[in-house]
Amino acid sequence: MTSVDIIIVAAGSGLRYGAPLPKQYCELGGRPVVMHTINALRAAIPHARLTLVISSEMADLWQDFCLKHNFVSPAVVYGGSTRWESVRNALSAADRPADIVMVHDAVRPLVSRQLVDMLMDALSSDPDVDGAIPAVAVTDSLRMQLGDGLSKSIDRSSMRAVQTPQAFRGYRLRQAYDLPYRDSFTDDASVMEAAGFGNLKLTEGSSHNIKITNPGDIAIAEVLMKLNKEQ
Ligand code: C5P
Repeated sequence: MTSVDIIIVAAGSGLRYGAPLPKQYCELGGRPVVMHTINALRAAIPHARLTLVISSEMADLWQDFCLKHNFVSPAVVYGGSTRWESVRNALSAADRPADIVMVHDAVRPLVSRQLVDMLMDALSSDPDVDGAIPAVAVTDSLRMQLGDGLSKSIDRSSMRAVQTPQAFRGYRLRQAYDLPYRDSFTDDASVMEAAGFGNLKLTEGSSHNIKITNPGDIAIAEVLMKLNKEQ
């Protein structure tokens, strides 16, 4: 059986959100967002080895949440000051990477089994593929800002918005994370590409796989969760 590691990054401070707690700890359907994320991934790949990356300052809070909700935490690794550093810490905590390593944002609790299956299929169907990335078409029109209030339009038909989890050949991801940090590393695909592992296949993302970013997003996630249950 293909071995799978899933790294869930939850060490962000969530400053953009403006809530008293980082958004991954905010309550969704009576439990912290990140617990939904962990459960969704446990259900998607039951044999996967999960690692949860949290800020060391949140270690006590996380333990309290687990006790309160009778929740068994995956192995915990402490994160760093950037997402890149958080992923790197998780990768170096393992003796060796699994065949496939997925990295997922804790703030995407509505990830589905179907989306994860498509990533696994993309990697298993072609040994030359370095990774698989869920993406969705862009529905807003796009403009590039040029400065001085000027901008120019961009053809959105070839643009895709990228989601997580992103899935990679484990040893290639580990190698890619040996590169020194660059500001352009906004996700794991960008790190892979910089390391020369650019054979990254886009798979179908989902409009339900939202990234909880703004306060209203919790309410949207509640509605989507309800819809998912009804289907
Ligand atoms: O900040 P951003 O929205 O890109 O964060 C995406 C995910 O990365 C979040 O789940 C956040 O908790 C995580 N992250 C992290 N360590 C950081 C920054 C972000 O684990 N230093």
